[in-house]
Formats: sequence, structure tokens, C-alpha cells
Amino acid sequence: MKPAIDTKKIVVLSGAGISAESGIPTFRDSGGLWHQHDLREVATPEGWARNPQLVLDFYNERRAVAAAAEPNAAHLALAALEQRFDVVILTQNIDDLHERAGSTNVIHLHGELAWARGTSAKRLRRRIDAAPIMLGDLCEDGSQLRPDIVWFGEPVERMDAACAEILTASKFLVVGTSLTVFPVASLVKKARWHAEKVLCALDVERRPAGYTLLRGAAGKIVPGLVQRWLADAPR
Ligand code: APR
Repeated sequence: MKPAIDTKKIVVLSGAGISAESGIPTFRDSGGLWHQHDLREVATPEGWARNPQLVLDFYNERRAVAAAAEPNAAHLALAALEQRFDVVILTQNIDDLHERAGSTNVIHLHGELAWARGTSAKRLRRRIDAAPIMLGDLCEDGSQLRPDIVWFGEPVERMDAACAEILTASKFLVVGTSLTVFPVASLVKKARWHAEKVLCALDVERRPAGYTLLRGAAGKIVPGLVQRWLADAPR
């Protein structure tokens, strides 16, 4: 028996596109990160084993770019939704722009730049904010620190939590993602048939069944959608 949906609950799934207008590069757009770097070298356990310095340099650079960025109108609008709704942000992004915009319930499915973790089985985490990680920076258990990021081939631990949140959402917004990386991309199918489902994207090869497509930049589209949702919010 599926749980009832909650008319006050909104879940958002965001990707790199929501941070593009804040100056943080996406991955697969022209000029994106995976056009500039070989993801096998900088975002896989094998790449880390081959050349940890290259991996640390890649994420130290991205951490500096993210720290210098500011939340944009899309992040701020989603934070404003919390005035009238219970909002859960499921993000593939490793920047903290949702939190800095004021969102209070953010689940980072692919990890966070602001955290590092040890490389032993204990996986002890440490908050580093915008600080770089250097070779020789050790965790309490003596293991080398690494970015607390989910690399390709590593498990996405919070998928069950993400699915559970979507199951009771009365509205589900998918914004700024190419929906090409699994398992997270499979979340579009988890929303209930009678929930309101919206996809905000620049270019869409295929619109998932049951979704309303709002084509355009997140910073332009999301504030208008949020305004409408707030105006129609249940009393
Ligand atoms: N507004 C809305 N969408 C935008 C904007 C914008 N201003 N700019 C770009 N986009 C769209 C692009 O058209 C593209 O569909 O955002 C999407 C970004 O897609 P990707 O670069 O593939 O980023 P994402 O979907 O978040 O990647 C998922 O892949 O490499 C891994 O772990 C990494 O979390 C990342 C995952």
C-alpha cells in the first residue's frame, strides 16, 4: 500500500543546470567539464588510484569556483517555497548554493565539495568548507583525505531516501539536469501519477510521460512557477 501524498510537500530534483547562471560550469553542455577533463581520470576510483594529485587538483578548482559563486534566482525561489510548503531538494550538485539560498532540507545524492572523507572503510567525514585537500592531509584514522563525492562506479547511498521523499510529494520539479546519469535519472519515474510533475530544461530530447515541460533557463522559469505555486498554496 503506497503512502498518501501530502498536499503540502514539494520535492525538487536539481542538476548542474540550476547552478549554470551562477557561473558554475555544467558537465555536458558545450564547454562543460566533461569536454575539458577526462572523467575517467578525475571522477572514478581508478583515476584516484592512478593519480590522486590530479583528482585533488580537479576538485580543489571546482571547490574554489563554487565558493566564489552566488545563488541565483532559481535557488532563491526554491528557498522561498518553504514559506508555504514542506520542500525537499534532491540535488546531484556538489555545490552548496541551495543551502546558501536558504533551502533547509537538501539531500546531496552525489556528495558535497564542502566535505572530505577518509579513504579507509570507516569513511570518517570532515567539513572543509572551501579549503583545498592536499596529498598528505590525513583523516583521524591516518588515511588520506579525499573529496566526499560519489565518483562514477561508486554507490549512490541516499537513493532509498530520495525515492521515499518523492513518493509522498504532491508536486515534483525536475530542473537543470540532462537525466543521463543513473541511478539518479530513474527518479523521474518515481513520482505518483496524480502528483503535479514539471520539467524545467533548456533542451529536451524526450519529455518523461506525465510531465509539463517548461523550456528555458532555470533563473527565468523557476521564479514564475514558484510564484504560481505559492499563490495556489493550500491554506
Ligand atoms: N537552466 C536550466 N537548465 C540548464 C541551464 C539553465 N540555465 N543551463 C544548462 N542547463 C541544462 C542543460 O541543457 C543540461 O540538460 O542542464 C543540464 C545539465 O546537464 P549535465 O551537464 O549532464 O549535468 P547533470 O544532469 O547535473 O549531470 C548529472 O553527472 O557527471 C555527473 O555527477 C555528475 O551530478 C552530475 C551528473
